[in-house]
This record gives sequence, structure tokens and C-alpha cells, in this order.
Amino acid sequence: MNFSEDGHVYTDRNTANPSHVAIIMDGNGRWAKQRLLNRIKGHEKGAETVRTIVECCREIGISILTLYAFSTENWQRPQVEVAALMTLLANFLKSEQKKLLDNNIRLNAIGQIERLPENVRNALYKTMALTEKNNGMLLNLALSYGARAEIVRMVKDIAIKVRKGIIDSDSITDDVISDSLYTKGMPDPDLLIRTSGEMRISNFLLWQIAYTEIYVTDTLWPDFSKDEFMQILKNYQHRKRRFGKV
Ligand code: IPE
Ligand code: IPE
Ligand code: MG
Repeated sequence: MNFSEDGHVYTDRNTANPSHVAIIMDGNGRWAKQRLLNRIKGHEKGAETVRTIVECCREIGISILTLYAFSTENWQRPQVEVAALMTLLANFLKSEQKKLLDNNIRLNAIGQIERLPENVRNALYKTMALTEKNNGMLLNLALSYGARAEIVRMVKDIAIKVRKGIIDSDSITDDVISDSLYTKGMPDPDLLIRTSGEMRISNFLLWQIAYTEIYVTDTLWPDFSKDEFMQILKNYQHRKRRFGKV
């Protein structure tokens, strides 16, 4: 039981850190534009923030960090920007390998990985295999990810199983659906952060965020810091998660 300064008694305060944090890393382009730089420079700076926040999550003991790095819709950006993002991603995977291993971090990817260029896919599979046994933290990259595409894939998957008689349609439950998504085996995010102020989900984890706490900050992703992240965690700790109950 906790007493606040105003004399009220607050019970059941959630003072624990989230197990699973998901982040929509937005605002790289605006960060660059503010500085009259090419958008690519914003993505490069954004990659540095990724390193900082991964490190921070590992230090404070977050179990899963899911980062929205590239959406299915992002394929519609100019080809030069897509190519630059793919190069950055391949470089990131190579440069971070040692750090992931040293810090016991497992890398996983969710999304339409088959659409990624071969060099990126190979770097990804290699890093995933290398870090497969790590259990300190799961770094989950959403790449070529779209929640609707994920749901379509899940429905097809279950429909085939029903047709083949592997499962009965009456036995389709929340758990059956969760187990047919890219995030199979992972708890749903406790906290979703979106940087750069947009009040939307942009096709990220639609099923999984049913009861996730949302925090939107105006800070652009390249400017996002460990300090602000800690402030957000503090804010999360004071929230009362009711899950529809009283
Ligand atoms: C987020 O930054 C990175 C990706 C979506 C790949 P943006 O590139 O969307 O930056 P803004 O929204 O244009 O500022
Ligand atoms: C969401 O950002 C996708 C990622 C951060 C990877 P966008 O910039 O693509 O989203 P919208 O276009 O503002 O909805
Ligand atoms: Mg954006």
C-alpha cells in the first residue's frame, strides 16, 4: 500500500517495469529536415538511438524490446530511401553482432522477411542463428512488418489447418490466434511508445496491443534519449492497468 502526498491511499500500484516494450521509432525524416539534411542522415542518427535504447533496456532488465524499423507500407517510399534503409540495416546487423553476443541478447525478426534484399536476409539469419541461445533479452525487429498482413497470414494458416482437419473451428481461441502470429510465444507488449507525436498505430501489432499502455512523445526518434526512456518507464509504473475489471 502506498500513500501519496495528497493523503489518498493508492493500492495495487503497478511499480514494476514492463516486460515487453514496443517502440514505433518515428521522426527520422523530420529530424533531418529541421537541419536541412537529407532524410538518410536522419535514419543514420536514428540507428544510433537504437543502439542506446537497446543497451538501456538490457541494463534495466527489460525482457523483450520490439522495434518497428520498417513497415509493409514503407516499401512505397522512394527507392533511394528504401535502399539506404536496407544498407543501414545490414550494417547495423554486422556491427552489433559482437555486442549482442557479449550482452546475451537474442535477435529475432517479425514481418515479411522474404521481401528483404538477400544481403539483409542473410545478415539477419546469420545474427539470429548466432544469438539463438542467448536469453538475457530478446531484441525483436519488425521488418517489412504490417499487422494486417500478419493477420491475413494467420487466418490463412488457421483456415488450412481447419480444412485439413488438424484443428476444429470450434477450438479456435485467442491462444490459437496468438500462436499463429509472428510474435508466437511472446507476451503482448506492456508498453508501446511512439516518438514524434503522431497519434496513430500505423499498422503495428494490432492484435497484440489490445491492452498495451500507450505513450506518445513529441521527441523525434534521433533525439530520443535514455533519460526520456527512464521518464516514460516511471510514468508507466504509475499507471493502473485494469484490463476491463474494476
Ligand atoms: C521513421 O522515421 C523511420 C521509418 C519509418 C523507416 P520517418 O522516416 O518516418 O520520419 P518522418 O516521419 O518522415 O519524420
Ligand atoms: C511507422 O512510421 C513505421 C515505422 C516507424 C517503421 P511511418 O512514418 O511509416 O508511419 P506514418 O506514415 O506516419 O503513419
Ligand atoms: Mg514517419
